[in-house]
Amino acid sequence: ISGSLVIISQALRNNLIVPSWHEFVELIRELYLKCKPISSGNVAEYIPQLARQDPNKWGVSICTVDGQRMSFGDATTPFCFQSVSKAFNYAILASDIGADAVHSFVGQEPSGRLFNEICLDVNNKPHNPMVNSGAIVVSSLLKKDWKMSDRFDYMLEEYKKLAGGEYIGFNNATFLSERDTADRNFALGHFMKECECFPNADQSIRDTLDFYFQLCSLETTCESLAVMAATLANGGVCPLTAEKCLANRPCRDVLSLMYSCGMYDYSGQFAFHVGLPAKSGVSGALIVVIPNLMGICLWSPPLDKMGNSVRGVEFCKKMITKFQFHNY
Ligand code: DON
Repeated sequence: ISGSLVIISQALRNNLIVPSWHEFVELIRELYLKCKPISSGNVAEYIPQLARQDPNKWGVSICTVDGQRMSFGDATTPFCFQSVSKAFNYAILASDIGADAVHSFVGQEPSGRLFNEICLDVNNKPHNPMVNSGAIVVSSLLKKDWKMSDRFDYMLEEYKKLAGGEYIGFNNATFLSERDTADRNFALGHFMKECECFPNADQSIRDTLDFYFQLCSLETTCESLAVMAATLANGGVCPLTAEKCLANRPCRDVLSLMYSCGMYDYSGQFAFHVGLPAKSGVSGALIVVIPNLMGICLWSPPLDKMGNSVRGVEFCKKMITKFQFHNY
C-alpha cells in the first residue's frame, strides 16, 4: 500500500495523526521564517566541499508517521549525511546482527568528550555509536565478511528503503576529501586496533575507514531525510511504503542513544530543553524524532561552537514553546 493511499484512507476515516494539518503547517512556517534571519555560526571548514556550502541555505521538512508532509526553504538541495549517518548505520547493523552482538563491541554511555577524541570506556570499548570511535567500529561490523563494493551497495539500498525510495546519493568529492584529511580518524582506528576493539584482527583499517567516510558522504535532501526520521518515529516502518526497514528493538535503542548522545557535547542540554531524540552532522543536518508522530529534518550549514546547526537548534527550542512535544 503506498504512502498516499495510507493518507487517503486515514483522512476518509477522519483519523489523521495531525488532524488540523493546515493550522500545523502555518505554525511551522512561522518557526521556519523566524529562524531564517539568524546569521551566527560558521560553516564547517575542514574540507572544501563543506566550506563551500552556502550559509544562507535553510530547509525544513516534516513527515508524519502516516505520511503527511510539508517542506519550507531549501528542502530539495542535496547535502551529506555526515554524522547523521551514525544513527542509521547503528540501527541497520543492530537490525542485522542484533543489539546484543553490536553492544559487545560498543557501549551506550555519553562520552563527555569531543566526538573525535581518542579514548575508550572502562570496558575498553568505544563509548557509544554516535561518536567517531563507535561509528568506526559499527562500520567495521556492517556485513563484515562481504566485499567492500557489496557492503556499500547494501547500505545504499537500506538507506533508500528507509527514505521510501526518495533521493539518496553519494558525494565522491566529499569522500575523497574526508579520506585526505583523516589523520585523527586513522589514529583512532590504529588505537582501537591495538586495543582489540574490532571484530576481525585482520580487517584493514583503511577499508574500515573508507567505508566510514563513504557512509558520511552519502547525500540526501531535507525531504528524504524527514522520511527517514519518520521511519524511526514509526517503529522502523517507512510511512511512504509501509515497508518494515528496521527491527523493533534497534529502532527503540537508536532513539535512546540519539537522546543521550546525538548532539555532541550539547546532548544533555538538548535533552533538557527540547526533550526529543536528535542527531546532527557537520554538514548542518539535524534530524529530530517525535516517536509515534513525526520525523523532522532541519538543514542549515552554519554551526555553533558545539558543531550543531544554529538555525536547527533554534528551531527546536522555539518549536518546544509552541507544541508539547517534550518527552516530559
Ligand atoms: O569523521 C569525521 O570527521 C566526519 N566526517 C564526521 C562528521 C561529523 O558530522 C562529526 N560527528 N560526529
